[in-house]
Amino acid sequence: MKILVTGGAGFIGSHTSVELLKAGYEIVIVDNYSNSSPDVIDKIKKITGKDFKNYELDVCDKDSLEKVFEENQIDGVIHFAGFKAVGESSKNPVMYYRNNIDSTLTLLEVMKQHNCKKFVFSSSACVYGNTSDGKCCEDSPLAPTNPYGETKLVSEFILKDLYKSDNSWGIVILRYFNPIGAHESGLIGENPKDIPNNLMPYIVRVASKEYDMLHIFGNDYKTIDGTGVRDYIHVVDLSIGHIKALEKLNKENGLFTYNLGTGHGVSVLELVNTFSKVNNVEVKYEFTARRLGDVDINYADVTKAYNELGFKATKTIEDMCRDSYNYVLKNKSN
Ligand code: UD1
Repeated sequence: MKILVTGGAGFIGSHTSVELLKAGYEIVIVDNYSNSSPDVIDKIKKITGKDFKNYELDVCDKDSLEKVFEENQIDGVIHFAGFKAVGESSKNPVMYYRNNIDSTLTLLEVMKQHNCKKFVFSSSACVYGNTSDGKCCEDSPLAPTNPYGETKLVSEFILKDLYKSDNSWGIVILRYFNPIGAHESGLIGENPKDIPNNLMPYIVRVASKEYDMLHIFGNDYKTIDGTGVRDYIHVVDLSIGHIKALEKLNKENGLFTYNLGTGHGVSVLELVNTFSKVNNVEVKYEFTARRLGDVDINYADVTKAYNELGFKATKTIEDMCRDSYNYVLKNKSN
C-alpha cells in the first residue's frame, strides 16, 4: 500500500513516516517545510534504509497536489500538514482557518477525483472543552478555546459530513494529547523554528543552556503539586497509533474517532524533575503567572483506542525525557 503523508517532514509526520516504512508501507511525502526542514527527508531514509518520493509543495495548491496523485498510485492519506501554534492562531485566526481548512478541503477533493478514500486525520485534544475532572472521552463535549482548536473541529465536521454523504470512505480522526520525545536514533525530533510554546521543547533549550530559565505557568492549580497536569505521550507510540488506524481502515470503512494518549496525567514539576534525573542535568525554573486558557488537568480516556485498535502506549516518561534530550544533544554536536 502506498500512503501519502502530508507534513511528513514535521515532528509527528517524520516519526510516522519511519513507522510506516518499518511496517512495510510505501510512502510519498509532501511538505512545504514551513515549520520543518528538508534534511529530515534524508534522515528518515537513513533510519529506515528505504527510499521514497517527496515533493516540496503546499497542500492548498491543488494543481501541484493533483500531479502527485497522477504520478503515484496513492491508496491512503495521513494528513499532518497544518499550522499548530495556539497563540499565533489567536492573533491571526484568518490565516489559520485559511490554511488548515483549505488544505483539508483541497486534499479531500483531489482524493475523491482519484477514488482514494482512506484518510487518517491529525486532530488534537484541544477540540475538547474543559471537563470537570480533566479526563476526556471521545464523546466528551467539544468546545475548543482557540482558533487552532476550532480549525481541527471544523475539519472533523467536514469529515463527518463527507462520510455521511458517501459511506465508501474510511476515515480515522486521531485526537493527540501531548506528544513529546524523539526517535531513539536522535536523528529526528521536535525542533520548532520559533520560540517554543510547548513545555518539552522549552525544557530542552533550558537544559542545553540556550535559554536561562523555564517559566512554569502557575503553581496554584488543583493538582498534586499545584502545576498543570497533562497526558504526555512518546511520539513513537503516537506514530504507531497511525499504523493501527490504517490497519482498521484496511478491514472496514467507516468514520472512527480515537484519543491517542497514555491515560495518565503528569504535572509540569514531575516532568521537569524526571527530565533532570534521567539526563543528569539542571533545569532552572521559576513560577510565573498562569497562562491564559490553561486548565488544571487534561488527560485521555484511552479505552476506545485500546478496545478497537489494540493501541496502547508503552514508553515511559523517562523514555520521553531521555529521547527528547538525546535529540537535542546529537543535533548540537552535528
Ligand atoms: C497546548 C495547547 C493545545 C495544543 C497543544 C499542542 C494551549 C492552551 N494549549 O497544550 O491546544 O493542542 O499545546 O501540543 O496552548 N507550561 C509551562 N511553561 C512553558 C510551557 C508550558 O509551565 O513554557 C505548562 C503549561 O501551563 C501546561 C503544560 O506545561 O500546564 C503543558 O503545556 P503545553 O506543552 O503548551 O501543552 P498544553 O497546554 O497541554
